[in-house]
Amino acid sequence: MDKDTAKDIKILAIESSCDETAAAVVRNGREVLSNIIYSQIALHTEYGGVVPEIASRKHIEKINKVIDSALKEAGTTLQDIDAIAVTYGPGLVGALLVGVSAAKAMAFATNKPLVGVHHIEGHISANYIENLNLEPPFMCLVVSGGHTHLVNVEDYGKYTILGKTRDDAAGEAFDKVARAIGLGYPGGPKIDRVAKEGNPDAIAFPRAKVENGEYDFSFSGLKSAVLNYLNQCEMKGEEIVVPDVAASFQKAVVDVLVDHSMDAVKRYGAKKFAIAGGVASNSSLRKAFEERCAKEKIEFYHPSPMYCTDNAAMIGVAGYYEFLAGTRHGYDLNAIPQLKLGER
Ligand code: KG4
Ligand code: ZN
Repeated sequence: MDKDTAKDIKILAIESSCDETAAAVVRNGREVLSNIIYSQIALHTEYGGVVPEIASRKHIEKINKVIDSALKEAGTTLQDIDAIAVTYGPGLVGALLVGVSAAKAMAFATNKPLVGVHHIEGHISANYIENLNLEPPFMCLVVSGGHTHLVNVEDYGKYTILGKTRDDAAGEAFDKVARAIGLGYPGGPKIDRVAKEGNPDAIAFPRAKVENGEYDFSFSGLKSAVLNYLNQCEMKGEEIVVPDVAASFQKAVVDVLVDHSMDAVKRYGAKKFAIAGGVASNSSLRKAFEERCAKEKIEFYHPSPMYCTDNAAMIGVAGYYEFLAGTRHGYDLNAIPQLKLGER
C-alpha cells in the first residue's frame, strides 16, 4: 500500500429496506467504487405497490450475489474493507432483516466493525457524492415513498427535524394518484413524464396548510381532492384529461414543498439547501427549487436520479461519517422499522 492510499477507508454498504436489494463500496465517504442495485419494481408492479413478503423473499435470494458484484466491481475483497455499513431502519421489517443479517454475518466472519445506518441519513448523504464541496450545515428536504422530512443538517450525523408529513408521504401521494388515473406503479416517474404534456393550471387542487405545525406537510387531502375530481368527471360524463390531472396534481405537491422549505430556509438563515429521496428526481420539483434558490441566492444541491432512489452508495457515505464519529453496533443489531432520525 503506498502512502496516498494508506489512510483510505473503504466501506461496504448494504441497503434492503424496501424493494431494492443493493450493495456498494465507497472510499473515504465521497467516492463510489461500485453501486449495485437489483430492483424488484417489476415484481411488485402487478400488485400496484410493494408487497412486503415478496420483497423479503427476493432480498434473501439476491443479496449475496449483489454483495459479490459490488466487491468485484470495486476491484476489492471483503478482507480489504474497513467497515460494513447497513440500513437498519426505517423500512419494512422483513426486508431490513435480510440486509442486517447479511451485514452481521460478514462482520462476525471477518471481525470488521459493523455500522448501522438510518435510511434517511443515507438519502441526505447522497448529496455528498457528486457535490464534493458540500459540507454541513445545510437544510435538506427528504421526499421519498415513505418519508417527507424537512431537516436541518447541523453537522455530520446531527439532525433537527423541522417538519414532516402528518399523513401520506409525497411519493406515496404520487403513487396513489398515478394508480387512480391509470398510470400504474411506481407512479412518480410516470406522473413526471405525463405531466410534461399537461397544463398545470387546468385544475385548482388544494395546497394544504397544517395547523400548529408550520413546516409539517399533509398530502391525503390533495389525494382525496384528485379522487373526488375524477369521480365527478365520471358522474357528469366529462372526459378526464390525464396529462392535465397529472400536471395539476404535481404542481400542487411542488408548490407546497417549495413554499414550506423556502420559508424555513429564510427563518433559519440557511445558506445551502438540498433535496433527497426518490421524489427529488422529479423534474418539476428540481426546476422549481433551482429557480427559487437562485432568486433567494441560496446554493442548491441535489443528487443525480440514480442516487435519489434507494441505493447502497448513499448508505456507504452515511456509514463512513458514522464510522469516523465512532458509531459501532454489536451483533445484537436489530431491524427497527420505525427508527427515528438521530437515534442510535
Ligand atoms: O427513495 P425511494 O426510492 O424509496 C423510499 O425510501 O421510499 O422513493 C421511491 C418513491 C416512489 O414513491 C416513487 O414514485 C417516487 O419516489 N419517485 C418519484 C419520481 N421518481 C421516483 N416521484 C416523483 N417524480 C419522480 N420522477
Ligand atoms: Zn428511500
